[in-house]
Amino acid sequence: MTATIERGSATARVNPPAEAAAKNAKPDRPGGLLGTSNGKKAVMAVTGAILVLFLIGHMAGNLKSFFGAESFNAYAEFLRTMGEPIVPRRVLLTVVEVVLAVAVGLHMWSAISLARRASKARPVKYAAKRKSQAGGYAVHTMRYGGVVIVLFVIWHLLDLTFGTVNPAGWDGTPYEKLVQGFDPSRWWVTIFYVLAVVMVGLHLRHGLWSAFQTLGLASGRSYRPLKGVAAAISAVLVLGFLAVPIAVMAGVVK
Ligand code: HEM
Repeated sequence: MTATIERGSATARVNPPAEAAAKNAKPDRPGGLLGTSNGKKAVMAVTGAILVLFLIGHMAGNLKSFFGAESFNAYAEFLRTMGEPIVPRRVLLTVVEVVLAVAVGLHMWSAISLARRASKARPVKYAAKRKSQAGGYAVHTMRYGGVVIVLFVIWHLLDLTFGTVNPAGWDGTPYEKLVQGFDPSRWWVTIFYVLAVVMVGLHLRHGLWSAFQTLGLASGRSYRPLKGVAAAISAVLVLGFLAVPIAVMAGVVK
C-alpha cells in the first residue's frame, strides 16, 4: 500500500489497494480479447466447432464407399467441383482446406497458451494425483491425444490425399486409394487408423464437454444429459469413421 502526502495539504491521501495495484500492474497481455483466458477459450470453442462440423461431413462422405466406387468417386469429384461455374475447379475446396488449416493452428495455439497460463498460475504441482478435469487423465488425453491426431493427419494426407504412401499412388482414384490403403496386407495401417480415430473420439468427448461448460450450459439438471450428448456424438463419429477401414479389411468394401 502506498501513501502520498500532498504538499500544502494537511491531509494524507492513502491510495486504496486496488488503485495502487492497477497503477503498478504491467498491461496484462497484449492482443485485447485474444490475450484473455476467455478470449482463448472462445477461439478454442469456435475452431473446435469448425473441426467437428468437418468431421461430421467427412464421416458421412466416407460412408459413400459402401455404395460402391462410382458413388464414392462422384462424391470426391463433387468436393473438387464445388462452386463451379461461379468459381473455377478446386477453388472452394482450397478455401475449405485453408479454413481447416487455420482452425487447427488456432486450436493448438489457444490450447498451448491456456495450458502455459494454467501452469504459471500453479507453479507447484498438485501433491496428490487428481481425477478431476484439471489434471491427470483429461490433460494427458488432450495433450498427447492431440499430438497423435496431428501425426495421424499428416500420415493420412500422404496416404489418401496425395497417395505418397499408398499402393495406388498419386494417380489412383480416391476409391482405389481407399481399398488398396486398407488392404489386409497393410493391417498395421488399419490398426494405426483405429487408434487414431479412438483418440479423436476421446479428444472430442472431452472437448465438447469443456465447450458446454465454457458456454455455461452444463449446470444443474443439464449436467448429466450434456455429458451423455458429448459421449454420444463422439461415439457416432468413432463408429462411422471405423466402419470404412474395417469394412475394407473384411472385404465388404472392395
Ligand atoms: C478412419 C477413417 C477415415 C477415412 C476412411 C478417411 C478417408 C479420407 C479420404 C479418402 C480422403 C481423401 C478425399 C479426397 O481425395 O477427396 C481424406 C481426406 C482427409 N481426411 Fe480423412 N478419413 C478418415 C478419418 C479422418 C480423420 C479422423 C480426420 C481428422 C482428424 C481426417 C482428416 C482428413 C483431412 C484433413 C483430409 C483432407 C481434406 C482435403 O484437403 O480436402 N480423416 N480422408
